[in-house]
Amino acid sequence: MQKIVLTGIKPTGKVHIGNYIGAIRPGLKMIEENPYQSLFFIADYHALTSTPEKDELRELTYDVAATWIACGLDPKKSIIYRQSDIPEIFEIMWILSCFSPKGLMNRAHAYKARVQSNETQGKMDFDAGINVGLFLYPVLMASDILTFDTDIVPVGEDQIQHIEIARDIAGKVNHHCRSQILKIPEFSVQKETKIVPGLDGQKMSKSYDNTVPLFCDSKKLRKLLMKIKTDSLPPEAPKETKDSVIFQLYKEFATSEEVADLAQKYQSGIGWGEAKQILYEAIDKHISPMRKEYEGLIHDKQELDKILNDGAARARESAKIVLKRLRSALGLAI
Ligand code: TRP
Repeated sequence: MQKIVLTGIKPTGKVHIGNYIGAIRPGLKMIEENPYQSLFFIADYHALTSTPEKDELRELTYDVAATWIACGLDPKKSIIYRQSDIPEIFEIMWILSCFSPKGLMNRAHAYKARVQSNETQGKMDFDAGINVGLFLYPVLMASDILTFDTDIVPVGEDQIQHIEIARDIAGKVNHHCRSQILKIPEFSVQKETKIVPGLDGQKMSKSYDNTVPLFCDSKKLRKLLMKIKTDSLPPEAPKETKDSVIFQLYKEFATSEEVADLAQKYQSGIGWGEAKQILYEAIDKHISPMRKEYEGLIHDKQELDKILNDGAARARESAKIVLKRLRSALGLAI
């Protein structure tokens, strides 16, 4: 049996080059190198826990889909869908919630962090501003995974706890039914989780406001890269490659000869402006063909809808089977 690998992305912000280097590129490589059936979905109902504006949520959902496809995801080989197009996920979520100890949810990181923040702010009500959707986030995520008999979930470190919760809940259902009704998923943490530096040298992240969007126009890309923070060494001074944001980003986009060449230039002295220009040219060259495809897709919502609807129809075929199996094992109408 072909193993099933499943990935979910929350549509909460425009994709930046840190996401590309850290998640998209290695994710696509994993799919390419292994004979998996890969499911890829946009977790729009998870994004709803932070109650975004409707136009923003809709646009960002399309944005994630167009970005992954432009980066090389093949919608014929992989199945790409919107979470909100699969009603079975939400029916299964209710079932799972009946097997989820409330205390387990109290300990989930995202919820706990919000409670602690209320506490440190001296608020009387530690649950202030927290909706039940956020509280149940891990149950919905468990349903995303268990609904498709997923074998492997590639995740970043911060998501490991969620997979463990999904395993726990599946175990409880199986124990109750005295049978392997739900498949217990494994997680795989990307080994070389790279920290991609942002414009200010800290980890590139939306919350630090130091990101470079993956698909902005070439002019804006250059302008942003010129803002990378550097020291005030004069052009002729030899420079360190180790802590240089320019150099670290360059390594992700250039060939090994090009990287060696830039290292040489650092040693013999290069102005920061020139180094940034070299970086810009490498990134722009790498991104250009993908950007073209992205632009085509993001302006063709009909085509995107077609791809996503087709993905949802394929995904629902297996979701229905799992739901039926569950309902039958639990004594519900079948
Ligand atoms: N919680 C994940 C994140 O914030 C997104 C997500 C939702 C997900 N459901 C999932 C990831 C299921 C993997 C599997 O990144």
